[in-house]
Amino acid sequence: MQMDGQENKIKWNERIKIKDLKDKTGQIHSLTGWVFFTRKSGNIRFIGLRDGSGKIQGVLVKEEVDQATYDLFTRLKQETCIQMSGIVQESKRNRFGVEILVKEIEIISISENFPITPKEHGTDFLLSNRHLWLRSSRQLALFNIRNKVIQGMRDFFAQHDFVQMDSPILTQNVGEDPKGLFNLSYFDLGEAYLAQTGQLYLEASIFAHGNVFCFGPTFRAEKSKTRRHLTEFWMLEAEMAFMDNVDNMDVQEDLIRFVITKVLDECSWHLKELERDVEALKGCMEPFIRLSYDEAVVILQNKGAKINWGDDLGATDETLLTGDSLVPVFVYDYPKKAKAFYMKENPLNPKTVKCADLLAPEGYGEIIGGSQREDSEEKLVSRILEVGLPIEPYQWYVDLRRYGSVKHSGFGIGLERLVGWICGIHHIRETIPFPRMMERVYP
Ligand code: 4AD
Ligand code: MG
Repeated sequence: MQMDGQENKIKWNERIKIKDLKDKTGQIHSLTGWVFFTRKSGNIRFIGLRDGSGKIQGVLVKEEVDQATYDLFTRLKQETCIQMSGIVQESKRNRFGVEILVKEIEIISISENFPITPKEHGTDFLLSNRHLWLRSSRQLALFNIRNKVIQGMRDFFAQHDFVQMDSPILTQNVGEDPKGLFNLSYFDLGEAYLAQTGQLYLEASIFAHGNVFCFGPTFRAEKSKTRRHLTEFWMLEAEMAFMDNVDNMDVQEDLIRFVITKVLDECSWHLKELERDVEALKGCMEPFIRLSYDEAVVILQNKGAKINWGDDLGATDETLLTGDSLVPVFVYDYPKKAKAFYMKENPLNPKTVKCADLLAPEGYGEIIGGSQREDSEEKLVSRILEVGLPIEPYQWYVDLRRYGSVKHSGFGIGLERLVGWICGIHHIRETIPFPRMMERVYP
């Protein structure tokens, strides 16, 4: 039985989109979408329509339509939602090589005075109108690439039989820096936090599955107003049994190269929209540079940086290390005091830990943090106490070192940092649909 008014309804997956018109010249089709520009030239009117899959130009010729249809043109303001029907014909003006000779227009809903126009707007204004800004060409390109990066990471893990094990957002464990916690009161059980990482829970999962990953939002109440910091960001984390810190770097290198290759192959149009220099991304096809922290400090000191052994690397140090090279750089075996409690003490130099950060070129800095994990119960407990964390909430985590403990490693990729670098976007706030920063939670 059919519901009223549903007789001629097109099935959801059979609706024609702009991207589908490539091989359809000469055919008549109807498109639905939003008007992003209009232009007049003599008796011809041009209508720019976008529908998410692409953009197309509709050509409205006075002699080809009735007067009422022709007159509708004056009501087509930016962001008017319409259905536009006509004959598909060849054109050099869009990437699918087609345009529409318009026969009919139906206004689905009007739009007046859309606040974001093709003129320049300040960033603060754009961020306050983020819900509308997402429709603009650059943002469309950016989020198509972000989507592709996520798909690429998932494909990589699927190809290598990693199991997705979702980690909780509410937790009693400090995962990284205790100074960067968002806390809330959790019923009668006291305090809980928004997760800074899913890592500790992934570690539990390797004993079941071997290789696992999680992907979700993570939270840092960091008081950093830099171009690299969000208070809520998405992290892709992986954890692997039987792997040491070198295996860990190998996986990351393969993963990053896989994702970049996919973006270069499948998003060339979007990269062009962003005016991204793709040569800069091809540096990833070379073997990544691997420097020990000790080597990095010497290089930095020779370049005039004010860094002493033991200090964490700052943003300028990271930029100096990648220099003019387009090849990403791993810095491994940092001083213990600069890193989190769970990292494995280096047997060759107990002042350092078996870890690595991956630094992207062109000043984008750390995009991945990873390490081999402390697998000795005794050492782990003493580290937790040494950094001043309460042992009680970590009983379960310490347990993992009691029942079949194994060498294991993992890493976390900051999705927005990775996307920022791939897209050549200066500030991370543009790489997430609704950025959360110290000074912004609206919209
Ligand atoms: O280096 P981080 O803090 O490492 C971890 O959270 C580990 N537990 C991951 C793991 O081994 N499973 O964070 C990982 C990455 C960083 O390299 C960076 O790309 C990103 O997350 N990141 C941020 N991105 C945006 N805003 C922030 N405030 C970020 N803090 C870290
Ligand atoms: Mg880090």
